[in-house]
Amino acid sequence: MNDLNVLSETFTKIKDYLASNEDNNIPVVKFNQPSDLSKLIDFSIAQKGVSEHEFLELMDSYLEHSVRTGNKQFLNQLYSGFNFPAFIGEVLTVLANTSMYTYEVAPVASMIETEMIRLMNSYAGYSNGDGIFVSGGSNANLVAMFSARNKIYPNGRFSGYDNNLKLKAFINEHAHYSIETAANVIGIGAKNVVKVKADENGCIIPAELEKAIKDSVANGETPFFVVATCATTLLGAYDPIDEMADICEKYGLWLHADGSFGGSVILSNQHRSLMNGIERTDSFAWNPHKLMNIPLICSVLLMKKKGSLQFNLTDINTDYIFHDIDNIEDLGKKSIQCGRRVDAVKLWFAWKYFGIQGYENRIDNLFEMAILAEEKVNQHPKLELLSPRQSFAICFRYIPAYTTDLNAFNLAVREHLRKSGKSIVNYGYIGDKLTIRLITANGELSKTDINRFFENFLTEALQIEESLKKSHVI
Ligand SMILES: Cc1ncc(COP(=O)(O)O)c(C=O)c1O
Repeated sequence: MNDLNVLSETFTKIKDYLASNEDNNIPVVKFNQPSDLSKLIDFSIAQKGVSEHEFLELMDSYLEHSVRTGNKQFLNQLYSGFNFPAFIGEVLTVLANTSMYTYEVAPVASMIETEMIRLMNSYAGYSNGDGIFVSGGSNANLVAMFSARNKIYPNGRFSGYDNNLKLKAFINEHAHYSIETAANVIGIGAKNVVKVKADENGCIIPAELEKAIKDSVANGETPFFVVATCATTLLGAYDPIDEMADICEKYGLWLHADGSFGGSVILSNQHRSLMNGIERTDSFAWNPHKLMNIPLICSVLLMKKKGSLQFNLTDINTDYIFHDIDNIEDLGKKSIQCGRRVDAVKLWFAWKYFGIQGYENRIDNLFEMAILAEEKVNQHPKLELLSPRQSFAICFRYIPAYTTDLNAFNLAVREHLRKSGKSIVNYGYIGDKLTIRLITANGELSKTDINRFFENFLTEALQIEESLKKSHVI
């Protein structure tokens, strides 16, 4: 194989791929069932390697059958979009391939990660803060809960968890499932995560939180960890951090902000009030791979107090790796990982490129697009908003003119749309109602993209409605 030739072909393929992301005739996905996909691509590894020609064909196949998350009709997940400077940062990261544990092997990346943590802490108002890039929001939540456990029970780091402590954590009933997984992983047990009632907007009710904490104390348990979700995964609701901080201060509890989805709102002067009180939290999970459109994974756990990350580890003076020779504290001493991906560099390139103002504009644009989508729902006689919009998630459904099973109907519309490749949007349940969930996560979305989505959605819905009418199912 001629590497230079493959490199030059790769460059052309990347250019073509990016151009086609803007082409409305190219579907977001060429949908195939798994059994069909395995006929289209040979996934097995053979004794003999492939030829240059076959290698190039495999590249085409991979791109052709993958979901185009950079296409503006990809409105399905909490991440989306293509971020050019971050892409360049990612390519350079892979090119220089190193691990984040020591300055010795990652001098520039260590300085970049340190600067990113400093900048992000300044947004959080953590004046003596610390932080680390982790392998995702779920991992950030895990390390936050682990840190809170080690604070209340330092001995647990050496002797293991003592069940008699009866530690309890408290979350919004709509919080992300990773908090329960974290409780499971650190030995507390998922059933010791108390789900606190939320109001009609999906925000935790502070009075209910305090009541749950009091009940727990009265039962002889030990409340230790409270999560303010910013924003919730389905409804995009922001918990009232300030009021929760009052309660946590009163009972001496660790308050963690799970901003895995919506933490980037802090970049916007206009909208950061949704996270008022963030400086009073003890830790903050912030995922630039969501609303900042950095390629996955790019996720940060910020800590209010310096030293709390190092405190989690029991033996960091490992002389075969941390030599302490470069007049700098190696970042590996703060991480529960040893080898760690370089995820800060792509963020740094993107932030350098867009600047502080550029990123603020991108977040403001996400809000504008969400407001527009909400208006489109409210203006259409057959669309129903299932929950008032809180931020970047619009939850709605289509009501056909005939009585039918609305959940089945809306699921059918979503599935037809997905398989057509015209637009991809997700769904979930609010109570027993299936809701379509549209997310405005791509900072480059425009009015045309939102309009196109609703055209696609309504065309599909009308077609299904008509065909059901003809076949007398409704
Ligand atoms: C509120 C919330 N927390 C945590 C997570 C997990 O983040 P990640 O997917 O980066 O693990 C998500 C993901 O959607 C989320 O919405």
